[in-house]
Amino acid sequence: MKSKTDPIRSLDTLFIRTYGCQMNEYDSGRMADIMKQAYGLRLVDRPEDADVILMNTCSVREKAEEKVYSELGRYRKLKDKRPDMIIGVGGCVGQQEGERIQKRAPYVDLVFGPQTYHRLPEMVKKIRRDRVQLTEVDMPEIEKFDSLPRHQGQGVSGCVTIMEGCDKFCTFCVVPYTRGPEISRPVEDILTECRQLLADGVVEISLLGQNVNGYRGLGEDGGEWDFTMLLYAVAALDGLKRLRFTTSHPMEMTSELCRAFSEIPQLMPYLHLPVQSGSNHMLKMMHRGHDRETYLRLIDELRGYCPDIALSSDFIVGYPGESDEDFEDTLDLARQVGYDTAYCFKYSPRPGTPASHAEDSVPEAVKDERLQRLLTLMREQSRLGMERQLGRTVEVLVEKPGRNEGDMEGRTADYRIVHFRGSPRQIGQILPVRIMEAYGQSLRGELILVGE
Ligand code: SAH
Ligand code: SF4
Ligand code: F3S
Repeated sequence: MKSKTDPIRSLDTLFIRTYGCQMNEYDSGRMADIMKQAYGLRLVDRPEDADVILMNTCSVREKAEEKVYSELGRYRKLKDKRPDMIIGVGGCVGQQEGERIQKRAPYVDLVFGPQTYHRLPEMVKKIRRDRVQLTEVDMPEIEKFDSLPRHQGQGVSGCVTIMEGCDKFCTFCVVPYTRGPEISRPVEDILTECRQLLADGVVEISLLGQNVNGYRGLGEDGGEWDFTMLLYAVAALDGLKRLRFTTSHPMEMTSELCRAFSEIPQLMPYLHLPVQSGSNHMLKMMHRGHDRETYLRLIDELRGYCPDIALSSDFIVGYPGESDEDFEDTLDLARQVGYDTAYCFKYSPRPGTPASHAEDSVPEAVKDERLQRLLTLMREQSRLGMERQLGRTVEVLVEKPGRNEGDMEGRTADYRIVHFRGSPRQIGQILPVRIMEAYGQSLRGELILVGE
């Protein structure tokens, strides 16, 4: 327990603000775990109540740094009143900005990159003991995973990060610089973490990484395993009912991986496969490594194995040099594929990326207009996808109580949210629900009782 001479004795509570991707969500969970394990810090919901505030930041899109500084401004007011509190900035902005953060916001005690979370207790102790400011942004090998405690309490559905970083260097993207090169965890470590989640009551596992299908890890046989081999091994674990993964890169979609959607019953029919643009010229400029035809062939192959697969994508509009024609190609590709969901972004130059040296040539108003047109098309496609569910009976994994009294919430195999009248006893079960109503983001249905 904390002794009187212990420099961290006055620290009891922790607040973490998380931005960005699922990898960050996962990492924040692990940060909370390690701080709890090391110092008994209790997670609180409001920064006002915290002795330690950590920001887990994202720098993938515009104004990321500004958002961090304005949030920090709020924390500064708290620190003015309680100078003893600790403020840390982690994640991708921390990695990217490093010491610049403390130059601009000198009340920040700690800046730390995504590969250093396992050293958080040690860093916090040092800050307390030596009254120093720290910046820790080096990228050691994948030490982080070996040293973090396992994450608990994820409910019905759990996540496991299987690889970090990205080697693809798309010209617009900051991730390879903030997260470092692709490093895959050994198969055995991943299986162990999955088994622990299953033992804790998780029935659905999502494998996470910036490029999960670029996975190349040390296999149980001592050889190198690819992502498909890993999938089969995870799917074979006792108690696993559903398996998902995100994000995938089109260039790493092998035929074996496409086939896995028809061969692994636990692998759910949903795939996020970002394409960014439908124009060959843009794809080339972006350094995506494939053209439109290759992507469309991939989608055909996937649908050959799994006709009902729901697809989603990320799109960027207004990349430097994007013409009206290029943009029309994007709309056309989106129509051809018929995505169920899409995340659409206006291009913004990111520090240190190759594209940031080119002139950000598409005027803001044109970007806005293209974004609106793409969003309108996507909303329409999503709506049709939701309406197609009407009258169907779908298998819903019950996750939690819904917002309305007496409602339960769960997800279909293809990742749609469903509400229905049910009971918390059903959490963790997969139950048949007949879909009666379709909304923009969710469905409503009725539980089909056994014997009906
Ligand atoms: N690894 C994933 C996702 C990376 S970031 C992949 O390769 O698809 C998530 C999304 O943010 C990207 O797919 C892209 O659509 C968007 N994005 C990344 N950099 C961007 C930038 N500079 N401007 C606008 N959108 C960007
Ligand atoms: Fe960024 Fe491209 Fe890597 Fe995705 S594949 S993280 S978009 S560099
Ligand atoms: Fe953002 Fe870093 Fe994830 S830039 S999207 S938090 S990898």
